[in-house]
Amino acid sequence: MGTVTHVEELIPVQEGLAEVLVPADHTRRGPGKVRGGPFYNAAMATPRHISVLVLTVVAAGVRRVLDGLASTGIQGIRFGLEVAAPFELTLNDRRRESYDLIRNNVVRNGLADVRVHCQDLNALLATERFDYVDVDPFGSPAPFTENALRALRPPGYLAVTATDTAPLAGTYPKTCRRRYDSVPIRGPFRHEMGVRILAGFVLRTAARLELAVRPLLSVWREHYYKLFFHVRSGARRADAALAQLGHVSFPEGKDRVMGSEGDAGPLWAGPLHDQNLLGAMRVREHMPAFLDRLLETWRAEATAPALFYTTDEVAHHLRISPPSMVETHRRLAEAGFVSTRTSFHPKGFKTNAGWEDVVRLLRPA
Ligand SMILES: C[S@@+](CC[C@H](N)C(=O)[O-])C[C@H]1O[C@@H](n2cnc3c(N)ncnc32)[C@H](O)[C@@H]1O
Repeated sequence: MGTVTHVEELIPVQEGLAEVLVPADHTRRGPGKVRGGPFYNAAMATPRHISVLVLTVVAAGVRRVLDGLASTGIQGIRFGLEVAAPFELTLNDRRRESYDLIRNNVVRNGLADVRVHCQDLNALLATERFDYVDVDPFGSPAPFTENALRALRPPGYLAVTATDTAPLAGTYPKTCRRRYDSVPIRGPFRHEMGVRILAGFVLRTAARLELAVRPLLSVWREHYYKLFFHVRSGARRADAALAQLGHVSFPEGKDRVMGSEGDAGPLWAGPLHDQNLLGAMRVREHMPAFLDRLLETWRAEATAPALFYTTDEVAHHLRISPPSMVETHRRLAEAGFVSTRTSFHPKGFKTNAGWEDVVRLLRPA
């Protein structure tokens, strides 16, 4: 009897300007399961759109781009089709089935001069250098972070995705400690904390290599974080970046304070997004319109205070129904405080007011 080989059924899907073959039973929402063959998650089209927009803005200084964990090749292929800059593209996946599919999809999309590798990513990163590296693993980017930073030619760009949001956002503190050497915290602001812990981890990993990283954009959506960093060289710059690490503490009541010591951290205490990058990002016609609303929120958040309160917390404390976001911003602004929405919670507001002022100002008249 001959060996029966499982041949996966493939179907074409359109995403952005690419049409790629993907497994017919691919993931359509949520994180999806780690599977044997090539992996495609339709729900991850959003971070791929965002990555295209980011690379479009920074592409002028970029000569070599790596999609290090490419699976079907969709992200790298979209870079090649949608970013009008003459960089050289490398796609890699250690699985043979993915490698074959990536090559097939590259040809299908008429892309020439794309390098496709079938290697362990850490081995590839030890032998080649790039200006932009995208690391999109199953789970944590921690096993690839140091080598990705070493492989960058500074100034360069690193994009990392993390789907292990449960440890980073405090559900599994031991795992967070082990993977990221940081103490997380639960609560309504847990995803901002999780993103800051991941940013702090990348920053500390870079500092050991005398590299300084700065977050350009920090995304939380549904089940993943995606962070984009600018990476520069120099011990002094690395020291300056380290000086922006902090902890979060809760000294009285519900006040949230970012300082050098505290209950949660270490984490990145600086700005989560870069205003100039966001100012230059333009959603393209073929992308969904909700990206414009996301950009707007990130732009407001780029200069807002760290951390936030939620109208639910205020409502619980005052035993009232949650005030509307419009009313919340209006009352705080009228009292001279900053108040903006946040991408990390639909009912969150970032303000320089302390908890006492918040409850005083939002108490029904
Ligand atoms: C989450 S998927 C990548 C999805 C892809 N970036 C996309 O946008 O559709 C992770 C991929 O990494 C590959 N992979 C896992 N560990 C790897 C390693 N050490 N080196 C290279 N590829 C690896 C897997 O085969 C899988 O295809």
